[in-house]
Amino acid sequence: MGKIRILDKEFEKNIPFERIQEVIETMASKIHEDYKNSRPLFLCVLNGAFMFAADLFKHYPGHCEISFIKLSSYAGTQTTGEVKTLIGLDKEIEGRDVIILEDIVDTGITISHLANDLSACKPESVRIATLLLKPESLRKEIRLDYVGMEIPNDFIVGYGLDYNGFGRNFRDIYKITE
Ligand code: IMP
Ligand code: MG
Repeated sequence: MGKIRILDKEFEKNIPFERIQEVIETMASKIHEDYKNSRPLFLCVLNGAFMFAADLFKHYPGHCEISFIKLSSYAGTQTTGEVKTLIGLDKEIEGRDVIILEDIVDTGITISHLANDLSACKPESVRIATLLLKPESLRKEIRLDYVGMEIPNDFIVGYGLDYNGFGRNFRDIYKITE
């Protein structure tokens, strides 16, 4: 399936599922190298990161835990600049090595907001792992510890990412055509 339509927009296939899996396997090994003597707590940022988190978790060869937080900042194809916490933390993170799992860092507003909130909970450490990064639209100075792929500043869907709620179920990543 090379082209798809979601609501009023057309998309074309951009990153195949197999490539996404390779990137995630490599990232899982790198993280494990760094956390061999720890039992990290992965923190998946819902909704977008659920597929990435599931695949990274499956590939992670060491002891680890996972928890979820739900944030929202996007409306349509644009960030609103305002981050809302829809479901908060349910795990004690004090003293834990936390690794935030994000689907994509665009302006960086969501991730820097979350990293700030987390530091108030006194974790032992916080690192960020993102499957995708749009370097051209990054507006925050933030250290991204693990980046799967850098992509141009195009709106994308699939593999957990949505356009107004739709398109998350596609296994490949598609970019908007206009
Ligand atoms: P940021 O706060 O601008 O960095 O945006 C991050 C959040 O916006 C991500 O967690 C995604 O959920 C969403 N997002 C950013 N870019 C895209 C995109 O191209 N497609 C779908 N969602 C996106
Ligand atoms: Mg997200």
